[in-house]
Amino acid sequence: MKKSITIFLFTCFPAFVFAQPLKARIKVDIERKTGEIDSLLYGNFTEHLGRCIYGGIYDPSSAQADQFGFRKDVMQAAKDLHTSILRWPGGNFVSGYNWMDGIGPKAMRPKKKDLAWGTIEPNLVGTDEFLQYAERMGTQPYIPVNLGTGTLDDARNWVEYCNSDTGTYYADLRAKNGRVKPYKVKYWGLGNEMDGWWQMGAKNADDYGKYALEAAKLMKWVDPNIKLTVCGLSFWSSGTADWNRTVLNYLKGYADYISLHFYFGDRTNNYLEYMASMKEPENEIKQTEGIINETIFKHKIDKPIYIAFDEYNVWYRTGGEERLEEKYNLQDALAIATFLNSLIRNAHIVKMANIAQLVNVIAPMMVTNDKLWKQTIYYPLQLFASNVYGSSVSTFVQCDTFNIAKYQGVSYLDVSTAYNTVSQTLTINVVNRHPSKSIEASIENQYGIADKKGMAYEVNSANLKDENSVNDEKVKIVEKSFSTQGKNFTYTFPAHSFTQLLIKVKPL
Ligand code: AHR
Repeated sequence: MKKSITIFLFTCFPAFVFAQPLKARIKVDIERKTGEIDSLLYGNFTEHLGRCIYGGIYDPSSAQADQFGFRKDVMQAAKDLHTSILRWPGGNFVSGYNWMDGIGPKAMRPKKKDLAWGTIEPNLVGTDEFLQYAERMGTQPYIPVNLGTGTLDDARNWVEYCNSDTGTYYADLRAKNGRVKPYKVKYWGLGNEMDGWWQMGAKNADDYGKYALEAAKLMKWVDPNIKLTVCGLSFWSSGTADWNRTVLNYLKGYADYISLHFYFGDRTNNYLEYMASMKEPENEIKQTEGIINETIFKHKIDKPIYIAFDEYNVWYRTGGEERLEEKYNLQDALAIATFLNSLIRNAHIVKMANIAQLVNVIAPMMVTNDKLWKQTIYYPLQLFASNVYGSSVSTFVQCDTFNIAKYQGVSYLDVSTAYNTVSQTLTINVVNRHPSKSIEASIENQYGIADKKGMAYEVNSANLKDENSVNDEKVKIVEKSFSTQGKNFTYTFPAHSFTQLLIKVKPL
């Protein structure tokens, strides 16, 4: 019986039928705006960890070093990523960091044990070096204070050192160290992953809430213009979402953001399971949004509280001994594109995100002593940060789905859409997660007049496990134009690819 069905199939449906693309529909309506996209979604993170700071952004021995000892090639590649905000100095590192060790003449700075990563910190890059680096890059600095081993005085004095006009002790100290004009650092964090046992000075939600509230008060009293991020539940934590509710309950009047951290990866060596697991960060956004809304409603808060996804990336292969130098492949690039899609779909509530980290350490770029090369994940990030601005807009997607044990009915296509009214550009970001089939989508633009031509940028490669290296770039951006024939058009998204479509659309 089985044999006869096979013979029937192969006689009536020749091989080309099996190679036919799957079909899908995408409907976009630029009038249905769901949230404004904040450029701070395209942030990055540099921690005193492995070769991120020393041997990464800073390396006076490299042929690439500028007059300050910072690498020009890393700075340029960060600028090409449109890095809008740069978090520093940690991470776990900050929970044992005394910022006073990193100021003043370099020869006088102490070398100290860093208990977060088991290394010796030379303190050659400190507050002034970092903030001037951020200025040269044209990015907003974002400093989490030490709420692990640090005191309330450490926190408020750091704000004074960075932001106050001269005339007080710490501002004058800054001037003495060569910088008269205040840096006016706007974004500050209240500690890092304070819920985790691995954190120096970890706390339970009540203890953290009370301590962070006092730090927040003092920091905002020093400079009322700063924006504060409260530590939300970290990905590694065994805690529950009650952490977020409890800490917001304490910090409701001071929190501008609550942070989320998420590290994902192919932990079961099963590609479709990996792709489906990318639903989880989005679920976490929804849960946190619910708690924010509850807090705002319950306590009649009259200002918004947003989500800052201030650490995210693929991280599952490396531990401490490998200095977290994860090598990424094509499927990781698809995971990053899917993650960025979820930020755009939730642009109304997620207003900041920082990929962890900038260089070498779980990073989109790697360096040798004199060369820089780009990992697979660099490219989707670059495409989003170059082109996805304006408003997130409502999108309808109909396509084939797949099932795994945990999730049923997962669409092969993962889509986000943005419309920029200033440049009148519609951007459609599509991940085709099918491992072997292309998908032909009929795309309907429901409002406005589309240009007859659009541009497509594709990130893909022959195999899901393809990686880049210093000498070989398998995964990169390929650019092509396509015709739209006005309102409706079809576009075929190749198997295991990320495609960004850019079309000019004039409103009626
Ligand atoms: O980014 C690496 C580490 O991951 C950070 O130091 C910490 O915050 C997180 O657990």
